Amino acid sequence: MSEGPGAGTIQTTALIVAAGSGLRLGAGGPKALVEVGGRPLYSWALDACRESSRIGRIVIAVPPGHASEFGAGDVTLVDGGAARSQSVEAGLAVIDTEFVLVHDAARPLVTAELIDHAIFALEVEPDVDAVIAAAPVTDTIKEVDHEGVVAATLDREILRSVQTPQVFRTEALRRAIELGDVENATDDAFLIESAGGRVSVLDAPSSNIKVTVPADLAMAELLLSRKPDQL
Ligand code: CTP
Ligand code: MG
Repeated sequence: MSEGPGAGTIQTTALIVAAGSGLRLGAGGPKALVEVGGRPLYSWALDACRESSRIGRIVIAVPPGHASEFGAGDVTLVDGGAARSQSVEAGLAVIDTEFVLVHDAARPLVTAELIDHAIFALEVEPDVDAVIAAAPVTDTIKEVDHEGVVAATLDREILRSVQTPQVFRTEALRRAIELGDVENATDDAFLIESAGGRVSVLDAPSSNIKVTVPADLAMAELLLSRKPDQL
């Protein structure tokens, strides 16, 4: 991994969470191994981490029983857990750097540039525990009651659609996971928030999509075939 301009001294490990089963995609096997653009989904995020000038080591949380399908010599593989934050916890057990950058294997459009910006943003904000990538919300978002009746229309200006990468002070994330509701956290920043920590948002492109349902696969293929300046 190259030393790019602006490289700092704080050591960061990338933790790619790839242990989910991909129920909503329904591919009949682990989502991270589904082919997108001619290669396994997780390998796009792995390459972005390798290209980053700030990542020293890469750990992947894999679905138990599938480690041999993630064949890569320069990464450390750990078995993930039943819930997302339990996969993060499993990765943290082998990480001792000051920062950890958590990224979903299911977000293949991430770039080394976004990764480097997120790490830099945490470095320059000493009173913040985590920096998370997020995009402005473009849809109108309404709150509905359990009968499906609109209860409120939310102010879009103050809403963000949260993505990964999410960069943490490793010890803060470790503590937040120890204290938090790991079975129900859909992102790790939530655990920091619940523990009273400060989370800062970094503007990220809406093209950094998560492959969740089959239509997302087609969108990811299309976006991956474009040049970065066309995203
Ligand atoms: N993830 C994980 N361990 C889990 C659950 C999720 O490492 N126990 C990872 C997934 O592999 C994915 C990311 O977290 O890269 C985001 O999760 P999601 O999109 O929900 O993926 P899945 O849980 O695999 O999909 P589904 O919820 O449809 O089953
Ligand atoms: Mg899931």
